[in-house]
Amino acid sequence: MKLDTHAPGRTVEQIAEEFFVPAGNRGEGSTQGADGDSGNFSFQLSPLSRAIVEISRNDRSTVKNLADVIVDEPLFSARLLKLAKFSSGLSLQPSTVAQAISTFGMDHLKSLALGLSLFGMESSPPKEEAWQPAPAPVTLRQLWEHSLGCAAMAGLIAAKIGHPAPHLVFVAGFLHDLGRLLFYRRWKERFLETVSLAIEKSIPSVEAETLGMGINHPEFGAHWATHAELPFWLQQTIRYHHVPFYTLTDVVDAKTAKIIALVQLADSECENLAISRGGDLGECSGDLWTKLNLRVEDWTEHLQIIKREIEASRAVFGFDADGFGEPDDRRRAALKTRAEFHDPNGSVNTQRRGQIMDHTQKHW
Ligand SMILES: [Fe+2]
Ligand SMILES: [Fe+2]
Repeated sequence: MKLDTHAPGRTVEQIAEEFFVPAGNRGEGSTQGADGDSGNFSFQLSPLSRAIVEISRNDRSTVKNLADVIVDEPLFSARLLKLAKFSSGLSLQPSTVAQAISTFGMDHLKSLALGLSLFGMESSPPKEEAWQPAPAPVTLRQLWEHSLGCAAMAGLIAAKIGHPAPHLVFVAGFLHDLGRLLFYRRWKERFLETVSLAIEKSIPSVEAETLGMGINHPEFGAHWATHAELPFWLQQTIRYHHVPFYTLTDVVDAKTAKIIALVQLADSECENLAISRGGDLGECSGDLWTKLNLRVEDWTEHLQIIKREIEASRAVFGFDADGFGEPDDRRRAALKTRAEFHDPNGSVNTQRRGQIMDHTQKHW
């Protein structure tokens, strides 16, 4: 199906409707995430995800109700616990699902669980990842490790700067790119084309997605998050995570802006340092480091620890245990650009910096 992606004034729903023709007509299997037909647009959730949403929707649900549903799936609950343990700043590392729910809160543990369920990971490495003749521009494992890396790093920085809820920042980091995951799971071929297009033309991924798919991953992810009834601030984080941080307070409140900025910092650094790969170009995050009164140099060791921990956890999440790839040429270019914009102390030397700082200090 060829989409007319240039028709002006089309809504997200109209674009999504064009995608959601029955799987049989497209020659593709149905996958949890997004599905439906042209007249009946809907997002699909797995039975486990549906049960989680139903329980969290009910005001009378207890921690035990939610824990019971999750514990019923031993592999899933083991992975959820392992995922939760990557979160910094927790007073207690959860050793049971019930503890994880108490620590994160029903709403946020639900969000984490739904995000995890979207990956649909097998108990052993997926064949498609193992025998691919040519390297794909992005793999499921890279998307997974990008989410995990961003979550761990955003949560760690949040804890270090005294953010009141670093585990929420962790959840936000984990889910920020779920639109990209949905694209991969449901329209893989077309999505990979947009990733290649972004690399070849050196254009932002959101631009390539809009060109190739008619909708970009922040918009699509936010749409899914609304359907899955994720908390509003999380929907906004997903929607606005590519908006420059100095204009965030034009679209979200100050608290959410700060969470998004932390996610952006983690996102950029994970890409720059090749801690996994989300399919995006690493960007210059110097202004963000400055804004948070931090120096990237002080974090190199922390990042390396996160990288090793993620690598060590691959088998738990059903992936091969190969090493991380080195940054490709595109990332090297991004690192070079960043170096050019930084002085030896890690500060940013751009004309816009004063203007940016003035603006953000007024609002944060
Ligand atoms: Fe993104
Ligand atoms: Fe990302």
